[in-house]
Amino acid sequence: MANGFVTNEPNRFFSQGFILEDFVGADDTMGTQELIERLNEALGWELRAVNMYAHYAANIQGIHRLQLDPMFNGEATESLAHADVVRRAIVKLGGVPVTERNPHPIVHTTEFKAMLERSLETETKAAEVYANIIQLVEKVGDQEMYDAIEQIYLAELRSLEDLRLILA
Ligand SMILES: [Fe+2]
Ligand SMILES: [Fe+2]
Repeated sequence: MANGFVTNEPNRFFSQGFILEDFVGADDTMGTQELIERLNEALGWELRAVNMYAHYAANIQGIHRLQLDPMFNGEATESLAHADVVRRAIVKLGGVPVTERNPHPIVHTTEFKAMLERSLETETKAAEVYANIIQLVEKVGDQEMYDAIEQIYLAELRSLEDLRLILA
C-alpha cells in the first residue's frame, strides 16, 4: 500500500500537467496571463460605464434631457456590448471574467455639465486601457480577437472626441 502510493505520485503530478505548464511555452503563458488581466481591467470599466451612463440617462434634467437621455442610453448599451466581447475574449483565453465593476466612484448629479465631465473621464480611461490591450492582443496573434478589440478601441476614441467637442 505504501509502495503503491510512492510509485503513483510522479504520474499524478505529470498527468495534472504541472511539468508541462512550468517548462513549455512559458513566454506565451505570461503574455496570455497579462492580456487576461488587462481585459479584466477593461471589463471592470465597461461594467462601471453601463451603470454610470444608465444612471445619468435616468437623472438628466432640463432642456438637455432631450439629447442627453438618448446619448447616455446609447453609451450604456454600447458599454454592455463591449463588456460582452471582452468577457468572451477572456473565456477564450482560458481566464475567468470579473463580475464586479471597477470601484471608481459614480458621482450622482442632475447637472448636465458634471455628467459630461464624468463621461469624458470614463472614455479617456477606456481609450487608455484598450490602447494597451491592442498591443498585447497583437502579440498573442488571434486575428479575430484583434479585430473585435480594435473596433471597441475605435468606438472609445469616437466617444472621447465627441465629448471633447461637446465640452469645448
Ligand atoms: Fe466601451
Ligand atoms: Fe465608451
